[in-house]
Amino acid sequence: MDRFIITGGRPLQGSVTVSGAKNSALKILAATLLLTKPIRLRNVPDLMDIRTMKRVLQTLGAKIEYNSDEKIMDVDPSGLNSTVAPYELVKTMRASFQVMGPLLARFGRAEISLPGGCAIGPRPVDFHLKAFREMGAVITTEHGYIQAVASPLHGASIYLDFPSVGATENVMMAASLTEGETIIENAAREPEVEDLANFLNGCGANIQGAGTERIAIQGVSSLEPTEHRILADRIETGTLLLAACITRSELEVVNPPMGALDTFIEKLRECGNQFEFSQNSIRVMPSRNPTGIQFTTRPHPGFPTDLQAPMMAYLTTTEGISVISEGIYENRFLHMSELLRMGGKIQLEGARALVTGGTPLSGAPVMASDLRGGAALVLAGLAADGRTEVSRVYHIDRGYERLEEKLCALGAQIERIS
Ligand code: EPZ
Repeated sequence: MDRFIITGGRPLQGSVTVSGAKNSALKILAATLLLTKPIRLRNVPDLMDIRTMKRVLQTLGAKIEYNSDEKIMDVDPSGLNSTVAPYELVKTMRASFQVMGPLLARFGRAEISLPGGCAIGPRPVDFHLKAFREMGAVITTEHGYIQAVASPLHGASIYLDFPSVGATENVMMAASLTEGETIIENAAREPEVEDLANFLNGCGANIQGAGTERIAIQGVSSLEPTEHRILADRIETGTLLLAACITRSELEVVNPPMGALDTFIEKLRECGNQFEFSQNSIRVMPSRNPTGIQFTTRPHPGFPTDLQAPMMAYLTTTEGISVISEGIYENRFLHMSELLRMGGKIQLEGARALVTGGTPLSGAPVMASDLRGGAALVLAGLAADGRTEVSRVYHIDRGYERLEEKLCALGAQIERIS
């Protein structure tokens, strides 16, 4: 298992380019199952989760080639010969569940291993299943697998009890190739949902309203391939902006998804940091004496839960008390105990963390427990005095494309030990 050895206290400088969005690429890869001809995707990040989704699609019979230098992935879904997503893959990545909608729409059946527990808390799939039932699927669970059969699906009016990203996307994919009209009320508005809709519409789907809370989909009988460039990753962008803020270093972040991080950037401004926007970059000019803030994670356009842990690392270094409330995953605080080991002062009160800032961080051996929690520890290591050893780096590799190389190119000192 790889580890990072970080020597903290080094200033960063220069510019860094954002990769394609993991959470967009994963769903668009699932959506290629709706096609019968080869398709080319661009700006696909080279990540462990993407490799897992590649294996899921290959298990279903797709042929895939990836050029990691060019970030081009060619998918040929013409020879699909299975509708089963096995336990071995779904247990390593929950997003594998996103193949259910495309398989149901195209083949009228899908058998997907039931996703299990997860380090950031319980993550059920009941909204997905309720919606597919409303579209006519018969769903049973046996031996750890969810079996869905439809003969065939039909359009439906679906209200999501919570604007779930995954459920919105799963239904949107299925409805694109399902006769009739499907309406999703209280839909997720995340930029990745919009990117998926743009991809599907490029292939000939008829989806309106993606990015709002009401999405209307008129099913079409077939989809045709189109080249698509994956949206830039807003969570990586936020993490890099925080790397600048926590080290008090001016940085330019190139190719960010403009407008996708407004709430987050507003909160960083509230801490005292300043930003300059150009056509394809954000320059951050960090405050030398930033102050603490309060925020609650919410569905987009609220503060993204995926930046809660990295933001917590930063807030251990700002003056005063910060209050962090988790509105999406109430147990997403595993990173807290590791930050305490580095000298952070944080108290947990239910789904709220109180951070008393301004205590210097000191390097320590710490363990990543999940993707974003792992990124938070890397940020803390950049600011800490001395040596931080982050173990279980595979969590970070799931969703950040060579994070340590990008940070080292800016002046950080991070060594990967294999
Ligand atoms: C997506 O997960 C992201 N993953 C997550 O990013 C992200 O944290 C999350 O959206 C919220 O923004 C991918 O896109 C692959 P949800 P998803 O369905 O779709 C509850 C990362 O670090 N819920 O919007 O699974 C659920 O428990 C990852 O990159 C149900 O109760 O999230 C949660 O509390 C981690 N029943 C809330 O809704 C359901 O059927 C939001 O979940 C579905 C969800």
